[in-house]
Amino acid sequence: MSNFEALKILGFDHLEFAVADIERAAESFLKLGFEKAGMRELRERELRSLLLVQNEVQIVLSHSTKGSDPIAAFVKAHGDGILNIAFRCEDAVSALEIAASRGATVLEPPRSYQKEAGTVHQAAIAAFGDVRHTLISRQGNLFAEGFDLSPRRPNKAMGFQRIDHVTCLVETGKIELWRNFYEKIFGLTSYSIENLTILESPRGGIRLPFCEPSTGGQEIQEHLDMNHGPGVEHAAFSSENLLESVQHWRKQGAKFLGVPSPYYETISKRFPGIVENVHELAEYGIMVDGDENGYLLQVFTGKLMGPFFLEAIQRKGATGFGEKNRSRSSD
Ligand SMILES: [Fe+2]
Repeated sequence: MSNFEALKILGFDHLEFAVADIERAAESFLKLGFEKAGMRELRERELRSLLLVQNEVQIVLSHSTKGSDPIAAFVKAHGDGILNIAFRCEDAVSALEIAASRGATVLEPPRSYQKEAGTVHQAAIAAFGDVRHTLISRQGNLFAEGFDLSPRRPNKAMGFQRIDHVTCLVETGKIELWRNFYEKIFGLTSYSIENLTILESPRGGIRLPFCEPSTGGQEIQEHLDMNHGPGVEHAAFSSENLLESVQHWRKQGAKFLGVPSPYYETISKRFPGIVENVHELAEYGIMVDGDENGYLLQVFTGKLMGPFFLEAIQRKGATGFGEKNRSRSSD
């Protein structure tokens, strides 16, 4: 059994944002097709959370007024942003035990929550900056502590389907440290594309590209400065019909970065296999990248909270991240 298989991690579960104002933070996600699926209030933590879902993508927006709570402390230190990249496990308790035995720092020991709807086990370990990984497993329909039910999943072809990758920024010289961390604790494997070091689970259920200023340049340093330290730069959610989805989201008021038209003049030559209409791609600022396996389509939002942004991606064979495209788009 490999180091990854021993943990029985099934993939990304959800992303939790620490925010100063839940309703305001929710606006951008609602315009992008997310639906409100549950609320919770945890009095002892002075914490409120809103669960937003779209197919397999689950987002939790949390706010706390208790200064010592990690949610409030995160907002104070960094502003709004992702504090938790949660991994779904077959058994969170044994996963935590294994991770701890490999040297992980335990932030929350395993706890269980039970309601009529089901039982959930969760624990959390520290990662880079103030980001943590909750390990979560469920029997039945309980989403997490304080929530009532698991969200319903109307399986829509439109919109976002699942979390594709979460791109993480660390200080110059620190990539090696975090590569070792994810290899040792989680058994992820690493490889490099362009300026990224990608930590990935064997079947790609978890993909964490890492970047640092020494390879990513000034833009990465600016993001770190704005975030007051390491953190998540962007999250990418996959779509099975990106063009149609972007048209729909725009009608709902979502905004995406534009791309200067010269970019599209050479697209058909650079990516001879693409079946999409290039004029339509240009109209919606959708960019293309490719490798020997195929191509991908991608589009970026502007900054949604602090320097954080979202990416929508449709993979048509390509396994890369289109990193060079990001700097070609602008507000
Ligand atoms: Fe990306």
